[in-house]
Formats: sequence, C-alpha cells, structure tokens
Amino acid sequence: MTTSDWRTVRIAAASAVADGILELQLEDPGGAGLPSWEPGAHLEVETPSGIRQYSLCGPADDAKHTVAILREEAGRGGSRSLHETATPGTELRVRGPRNHFPLVDDADDYILIAGGIGITPLKAMAQHLAASGRPWRLHYGGRSTTSMAYVDHLRALDPDCVHVHPQDTHGVLDLPAILADAHSGTVVYCCGPSGLLEAATNAVAASPARELHVERFTSATTPADSEPESGLDTFVVELALTGGEIEIGADQSILDAVRDVVPGVMSSCEDGYCGTCETPVLEGIPLHRDTVLTPSEQASNETMMICVGRSCSQRLVLEL
Ligand code: FES
Repeated sequence: MTTSDWRTVRIAAASAVADGILELQLEDPGGAGLPSWEPGAHLEVETPSGIRQYSLCGPADDAKHTVAILREEAGRGGSRSLHETATPGTELRVRGPRNHFPLVDDADDYILIAGGIGITPLKAMAQHLAASGRPWRLHYGGRSTTSMAYVDHLRALDPDCVHVHPQDTHGVLDLPAILADAHSGTVVYCCGPSGLLEAATNAVAASPARELHVERFTSATTPADSEPESGLDTFVVELALTGGEIEIGADQSILDAVRDVVPGVMSSCEDGYCGTCETPVLEGIPLHRDTVLTPSEQASNETMMICVGRSCSQRLVLEL
C-alpha cells in the first residue's frame, strides 16, 4: 500500500455502543460503496495523534464500513480525539481494508475468544460463521456488562453459541474450561489484551486444538528490544522508487533512517505489531522482528515491517 491508497470517508452515524466505546459508520462522500472486506480486516484511520487501526465489525455486505473505538485515556490521544470530534458529517482519512487476521475456511470447528474491545474482529467472524452454518462458539470477557459492546447483537446470532463473561460477576475467562471440548479440527481465534493472548497461547498449546490465531493491540515482547539472531549491525537500504541509498546504523531503525528522504512513509505502532509500515522487499534478505506476518509470510521475504525489521544481507532493496 502507498500514500495514494488513502481515501476520504464521511461519518454517516456515530453512537455509543457501551461505556467508552463509540461506533462509527463510515460512508463514501460521493455515494459510491466502500471496498469489500473479509472478517478480521481493519481500517487505518488518520487522527491528530497519528494513524490508528480499527477492526471492521459491521455487516460485511454493507456499503458502509463500521468500526468501534474504545476511548483510551492512557493512550497517545488518537481514540480521545475521535471520541471528541467524530460526529455525523465529519470527514476522516482512512486506508484499507487490510487483513492480518483472516479467518481460515478449512476448520471443522471455531472457538472465538474476545477480551474487551477485542470483540470487534471476532464479531465479524461470528457473523460470518453464523451465516455460513459452520460450528462456532464465542467466549466474550469484559470488565462489566456495561463496558461490553454488541452483547445483544451477538446473542441474536445464536444464543447457544455466545457465552458472555463480565469479570465483575463471572471472574476471568477460564481458558482450559473453554478449550475442554476442542479437538484436532478446532481453530481458535483470540483478540484482546496481551495477558489474555499469553494465556490463550498456553491454553491452546496444552489442548488438542489445531492452531491459534491472535491479533495484538500491543506488542508481545517488544521485538525491537530483543536481539536479532543473525542480523547485521550495519547495512545499506536502496530506495527503488525514490532513488538513492541509506546506510542503516546499529542504533537506528530502517523507518527512522528513511523518514527524512521518503515523504509520507507511514507508521503507527513503531513496535512491529500493527502492519502500517509493511514495505515490499525487492532484493536482499530481511530479518523479521514483527508479530504481524505469519511464519510463512516472513519466510517468503516479500514484505517486511521496517519499524523493527533489519537485514541479514549487506543490501536490502525496498519498494520505497
Ligand atoms: Fe506498526 Fe511498523 S508501524 S508494524
């Protein structure tokens, strides 16, 4: 994706769907439909505090795009600014949809585990699975009932498949119990705070479930702080579109180094988990340190996250 992938959308509706959660329905200002998307996809949204990612959670066949935004007082201000300024008629700049959390279609059985605002991509998955008649169940944890969005909508999909666990009345999600009926055809999807993702990783590893897919809202182990296994201290990045070369020092990220010479280079988390800075690799062998790409995507070396990735070869040629 490039800067030209950004488009202007207009807020068609804005409403509170739980304590501190604002739902926005976005439409094309010219009346055209917005791009189609699959469950797990997200939009990147420009805010005064930088780019933020929000999962698409409305009906997949809607001409509008729907996102739900948790107001994070301790964050960098992106969600706060949207809560304060996003009213019907307001225009936003967005990019996407992009999907780093796709729903595999060959599982016998699906277990969806959501924590808090992590419900948004899993709501889209539950809608899809319910419509397609596949076996699924959703376990949805949150601080309290009033902080949990879309509970009634989810129960209406299939009350037998939706299990709601407000922490103040039900305690934390009991993952071993949730996975008790998993089998070798079960695929587990989990989205929520990092503690839930770690617990799900351990619980799925101890179960017969086939595999776990997670989506992170925060970094896992701060990949930028971990030691590369075989990366070079210094290397050269050639900019195929802009022209020129940059030497990358040991204490510098590729993103920081190219910022001065590549106008509009995009970033958000700068910690390897959001996917905003994904960049095509034309030559060379990158060292991947992100949590966005799957192992097979990393092995293909077709793209890399330049905020945390480095190089195993003396020269990397990037499509920048
Ligand atoms: Fe988020 Fe690079 S900016 S992965």
